[in-house]
Amino acid sequence: DKGNFRHFMLKEIFEQPSVVADTLEGRIVDNQVYIETLGDNAAKVFEQTEALQIIACGTSYNAALVAKYWVEHYLNIPCLVEIASEYRYRKTATIPNSLFITISQSGETADTLAALSKAKGEGYLASLTVCNSPASSMVRESDFTLLTRAGTEIGVASTKAFTAQLVSLLLLTISIGKAKGLDKETEHNIVKALEHLPSEIQKALDQAGDIDKLSEAFAEKHHTLFLGRGQQYPIAMEAALKLKEVSYIHAEAYAAGELKHGPLALIDKDMPTVVVAPNDNLLEKLKSNIEEVRSRGGSLFVFADKSAKIQGSDGITVFPVDSSYNVTAPIVYTIPLQLLSYYVAVIKGTDVDQPRNLAKSVTVE
Ligand code: M6R
Repeated sequence: DKGNFRHFMLKEIFEQPSVVADTLEGRIVDNQVYIETLGDNAAKVFEQTEALQIIACGTSYNAALVAKYWVEHYLNIPCLVEIASEYRYRKTATIPNSLFITISQSGETADTLAALSKAKGEGYLASLTVCNSPASSMVRESDFTLLTRAGTEIGVASTKAFTAQLVSLLLLTISIGKAKGLDKETEHNIVKALEHLPSEIQKALDQAGDIDKLSEAFAEKHHTLFLGRGQQYPIAMEAALKLKEVSYIHAEAYAAGELKHGPLALIDKDMPTVVVAPNDNLLEKLKSNIEEVRSRGGSLFVFADKSAKIQGSDGITVFPVDSSYNVTAPIVYTIPLQLLSYYVAVIKGTDVDQPRNLAKSVTVE
């Protein structure tokens, strides 16, 4: 039932504050992360874990890429991320004492399942799935399960399942960290950020009307470039995937530092560039990337932290995003970008919930 919403995609975008609260429910006790269902056996495995190998497809792969930034930053252990269809068909080398992780909304994606079954003969400590479907093959076939609890997602374009995956992956990062001696203060800081997340997402949703207006600038375009740096680079990738899926506009994401290495040649007045620019240590670098695009006549749409002091001017439209915690900023910035794809698709009149040529669950290769 779509309720008062025109499409499931919009309904599911708006469900995110409560989805995130559900994902966290019962998993934070006295400012500490405790995932009961993983139990003592998982803690023993985590203690021995010296590297992670994450496998997924599509949006779930983009969630894995964000997790890589968190894991390597907070846990100081290598986190390898690979697309399932690549991993399954090549000769891979396993880092000793590594944990194999799959991420999947459906738990039925053929390539991810095949990668999991390949991994069983590759000497991993154990397998763990971050999954939204409790009764799925992925859950059955994995040693450990962390359920994302996003509820049923009907729109083919994944939205609430993605944010629930990110929240789950952050909880998992802390859980592994605890078994490996992560300090209490870091844990408390991340927990605080997670607890504020539902209200930060709500604030982003309250700006939907402004995003709707902004989307008009994209509807007539044939291409869009998305730029991000650091943990926001995968968010730029996810935004590009979403725009492609639902609006059929060609979109590409680049790490902003790659601009000069090729994509800058594409910039002209018909190629809008979307920049994900939170106020972090990479902001100054991003500002020069913005200037590189502007000086070549490109129009920019910058999603920036209110405190980042990026001025709107000729060719630069700044969209303010309120996110107070660096660690969860990728999740907050996801919201306006999902809304952008949605509203562009609505103007274009596509079948938003059932984009052409796509299936919700890719159970065949
Ligand atoms: O069910 P899964 O998470 O394994 O699905 C993976 C992809 O097929 C999925 O994320 C796909 O890319 C979505 N349509 C993206 O919106």
